Amino acid sequence: MLIKTDDITKIKELDDAIFTNSSYSLNTYEHMVNSNEFYFISNNIEPIGFVVIQRVGDEYELIKVGVLENYRRHGYTYGALLELLATTTYDAFLLEVKSQNTKAISLYKKLGFELTGQRKDYYGEGVDAILMRYIKK
Ligand SMILES: CC(C)(COP(=O)(O)OP(=O)(O)OC[C@H]1O[C@@H](n2cnc3c(N)ncnc32)[C@H](O)[C@@H]1OP(=O)(O)O)[C@@H](O)C(=O)NCCC(=O)NCCS
Repeated sequence: MLIKTDDITKIKELDDAIFTNSSYSLNTYEHMVNSNEFYFISNNIEPIGFVVIQRVGDEYELIKVGVLENYRRHGYTYGALLELLATTTYDAFLLEVKSQNTKAISLYKKLGFELTGQRKDYYGEGVDAILMRYIKK
């Protein structure tokens, strides 16, 4: 379940817990509030993850998504992103993901995202950036 929020303090708390080595600073989130949308992924009891998206013209970009480790593999992220794709209006939904993040790539493929490009060594040697796009059916 997806809940729109502007509680960036809680988003940051989740980000810190999920992305232990690459969470954004509160300062970064404060700069993002005007140009991004924030959602909690909820298990109907409490926020267990989050999604950040950015609208650019008629397209959305998925900036960040994650769920707390204890709640993974229960379909929460798939369900939340499916809801997001169904309820937002856009021409295309884009994202970029590290080639090593096979879990996330598998998730995006399951949702219907297709591979549109690859930036070799974008994140360092041997770690490419994979570009994916969802086209509304
Ligand atoms: C990637 C991530 C968001 C997946 O969340 P999740 O809630 O566990 O995913 P779901 O349970 O909804 O799984 C949906 C699909 O994702 C893929 N997937 C999720 N976890 C996977 C795993 N451990 N191994 C392989 N595929 C996996 C599968 O395709 C799965 O479908 P299936 O269950 O039918 O096989 C979660 O692992 C996470 O938060 N990782 C750390 C943050 C991150 O890497 N975010 C993405 C980049 S910003």
